[in-house]
Amino acid sequence: MQKISDIKEIGLKDLKVDDFIERQVREIRAKVGKGVAINALSGGVDSSVVTMLGHKALGDRLRTVFIENGIMRQGEPEHVVAIFAELGVRVELVDAKEEFFSALKGLTDPEEKREAITQAFYKEVFGRIVRESKAKYLLQGTNYTDVEETVAGIKRQHNILEQLGIDTRKEFGYRVIEPIIQLRKTGVRRVGKALGLPKELYDRPPFPGPALAARVIGEVTPERVETVRRATAILDEELKGTKAFQWLAILHEDRVTGLRANKRDFGQQIEVRCWDSTDAVTGTPTELPFKTLTRIADRISNEVPGVVSVTYNVTKKPPSTIEAV
Ligand code: XMP
Repeated sequence: MQKISDIKEIGLKDLKVDDFIERQVREIRAKVGKGVAINALSGGVDSSVVTMLGHKALGDRLRTVFIENGIMRQGEPEHVVAIFAELGVRVELVDAKEEFFSALKGLTDPEEKREAITQAFYKEVFGRIVRESKAKYLLQGTNYTDVEETVAGIKRQHNILEQLGIDTRKEFGYRVIEPIIQLRKTGVRRVGKALGLPKELYDRPPFPGPALAARVIGEVTPERVETVRRATAILDEELKGTKAFQWLAILHEDRVTGLRANKRDFGQQIEVRCWDSTDAVTGTPTELPFKTLTRIADRISNEVPGVVSVTYNVTKKPPSTIEAV
């Protein structure tokens, strides 16, 4: 296993994309030999690039799974699987919705919710698939920023074996391969483009690991996620032409009185955020035209059942964060 201090960044000026791809493909082949490898694809830039590199190197000897956790955006799991099918890469869609929702049941604390999602993914669902697969290699999309954040203690350890509860000394057959560990996001995007990924994947806006659960304040139930999912789909339609860094819809726990068909309706509130940012470390709310904001409010309050109030957050990060949970 590579020591963290031995990992050297490849900056953009030193990145020769074709050489990089060739070297990684060679190294994956050399490490895996005649064996079988496995990886989890989320449709994010990092895991998409690793999937392409792995398939270029190993073909059918890389087993790629997409875990449907029930908290992705509208149609996302099927859409990502279809994109890879077009590229000639078979991806298994694993339905794990029930496991994730039962792990989230009754939880309202943000950190407990995040931890439950991490545990359900690594320990239960993906952990089980890896153990049953007999694969001896895991391909993982750790990037250089992850390494830095791990060293700085901002993120949890990225060593997937530890997260899986697998002791490398005992289970010595397993090894992790991290082909993009020397690259930052812009470098990863360039490699993705060269590997033939469509722009919608290599140029994807950021989306959090805990997915729509990062946008549900209070308990994460299938119904409450569906409310955020519908509001998100409307925002995506209305804002996709803008240059904003990221936008999101948040479901609040508090209810407010609204009026529907001349009846008072103690309904739900959606908060919209739209960010200008370059690195997500700081952010300012985008100055969206008032007409755009009112159209969004009209559509969400009319098209998403139960929602009677839509607000726009104009707070900067910091003290706000980009996500709500
Ligand atoms: P915050 O909310 O911390 O978000 O201001 C900063 C950026 O990171 C994304 N984000 C995450 N990404 N796993 C991720 O991979 C996570 O748990 C996570 N939480 C937030 C967020 O969407 C924003 O771009």
